[in-house]
Amino acid sequence: MRVADVLESEHRVIMSVLDSLERTVGATDPKLALPTIRSILEFLDFYLVQIHQSKEDEILLPFLRDSHPEQLLYASSQWLLHDHTELIILLEESWRLLERLESGAIDRWRVLRSKLQDLVEKSRDHIRHEELVLFPEMTEILSHSENSILVVDFYRLESEICSATRYADLITFARSLPRRTADPVPRASEALESFR
Ligand SMILES: [Fe+2]
Ligand SMILES: [Fe+2]
Repeated sequence: MRVADVLESEHRVIMSVLDSLERTVGATDPKLALPTIRSILEFLDFYLVQIHQSKEDEILLPFLRDSHPEQLLYASSQWLLHDHTELIILLEESWRLLERLESGAIDRWRVLRSKLQDLVEKSRDHIRHEELVLFPEMTEILSHSENSILVVDFYRLESEICSATRYADLITFARSLPRRTADPVPRASEALESFR
């Protein structure tokens, strides 16, 4: 199992939820859309930021910087960290707008839709960039044993953050959302299997 396989499996889950978010934002009645948007933001806070980005920020990048400083493009690590911070800020701004709408400020609906569309596009661009630039570069420089060490570290970090039951619930949630495309969400067992 390669490090990139683990992260790409998580990307498939995140991309499917972003697709559902885009679909929900297209709804014309904010009252019907707000509960789903809240559930999706809760999912992104936990799955995207805590489970996924923490593997990249706390394990992958420090390892690449320490073990392969000469091969890792400086720009790769900088844009990765910068993008992660920007995505967290977009999430925080979306939460603030959502809470204002939930307390009756219905005129903020257009602003929230625009903010969530930014979040969807920024996240998709980030994931594409990782898969097209960073992962091929990383796959080239990591040995088999380095891959194994990182995958074990991913598992250790994830088990500190989230139980297997909670992880399965997150995947079930992602699968339950309506999507615009037929891009499949991995089953919980498949998603768990990908890094164990
Ligand atoms: Fe990332
Ligand atoms: Fe990623």
